[in-house]
Amino acid sequence: MSTNTQLLLPDEAGLAAAAALLCAGGLVAFPTETVYGLGADALSAAAVARIFAAKGRPSSDPLIVHVAELADLPRVTSTLSAAAQQLAAAFWPGPLTLILPRGPAVPLAVSAGRATVAVRLPAHPVARALIAAAGTPLAAPSANRFGHTSPTTAAHVLADLDGRIDAVLDGGPTPIGVESTVLDLTTAVPTLLRPGGISLEQLRALLGSVALGGRAEPGVGMASPGLLDRHYAPASELWLVVGPVAAAHAWLRAQAMPYLAAGQRVGLLVPDEDAATLADLGADVERLGPAVDLATVASRLYAALRALDARRPAVILARDFGQAGLGLALRDRLTRAASGRVVYV
Ligand code: TXA
Ligand code: MG
Repeated sequence: MSTNTQLLLPDEAGLAAAAALLCAGGLVAFPTETVYGLGADALSAAAVARIFAAKGRPSSDPLIVHVAELADLPRVTSTLSAAAQQLAAAFWPGPLTLILPRGPAVPLAVSAGRATVAVRLPAHPVARALIAAAGTPLAAPSANRFGHTSPTTAAHVLADLDGRIDAVLDGGPTPIGVESTVLDLTTAVPTLLRPGGISLEQLRALLGSVALGGRAEPGVGMASPGLLDRHYAPASELWLVVGPVAAAHAWLRAQAMPYLAAGQRVGLLVPDEDAATLADLGADVERLGPAVDLATVASRLYAALRALDARRPAVILARDFGQAGLGLALRDRLTRAASGRVVYV
């Protein structure tokens, strides 16, 4: 599969060119408020098949369908429960994906054979303008090769998919930086499948009880490292340390020193405060922002991970940000990047 990938600007001409490619069954990467998505016409089985091929994604892993307006929902789902309507009113447009009953027009391949479909109404103006211009819902997973880190810039998209997709719309860095929250509304109790931009606290405030699905369970890396998805994975081995600041710093030092003493590189993925405290080590530091400002930390996480990984350190050491608010999403992504190498101090 080799294609000349066009870099388009999200002006009138760029959006029209992108929409024409999508209507012809092509693949166009576009910015959303979370990460860049790799879009195709969600109602065309042939177009959707190209997404799986370009990403190298197993056909068993279902895709999210993106709509521009609430009025488009009947095209993708058969019924909208009271809970779905409440959530849509509260959090759409925004970083929340709802698992709903799949409508008959959605090809089976989109949801990998399930009776359900994942739906999201994104907040990014370029995403919404593109879906509206294409005139069809867009299936869009994150625009990376399967198992790689999700892209938060057009350059990240090209690093993974140049020559494999028709175009990328460059809308600058994505503001949230981690993927949407995925909530299953087809279970008896709504189930959080992936923590993200809308927090568990926000969902519980609206719905009352929300169950934690396997992938959202905090500390899952300890319980079953072998079963973890190896997602969001850098090439370098990554370790995540969870615990009080002083103990975490002591652990980071103890881990880093033998490598540094042997003349090897160590990457540190940490908040600004840690960078200052650990500056004397001489490690390669990526500062994620103040530890209390989780929105900044999330927005920088994937670019920082890529930047560190590009320097091929012997090891990358990362610190946890707790479980409140966006912290749960950060722990989930870092745990997966660590492939289960999570240490509680
Ligand atoms: O923020 C986001 O959600 C980004 C942007 C582009 O919208 N998209 C994204 O897509 O992260 P992807 O494919 O990388 O992740 C979608 C997740 C996967 O874990 C997939 O298994 C799950 O949603 N999913 C999709 N459809 C599902 C379904 N019908 N039932 C259960 N899980 C589903
Ligand atoms: Mg993904």
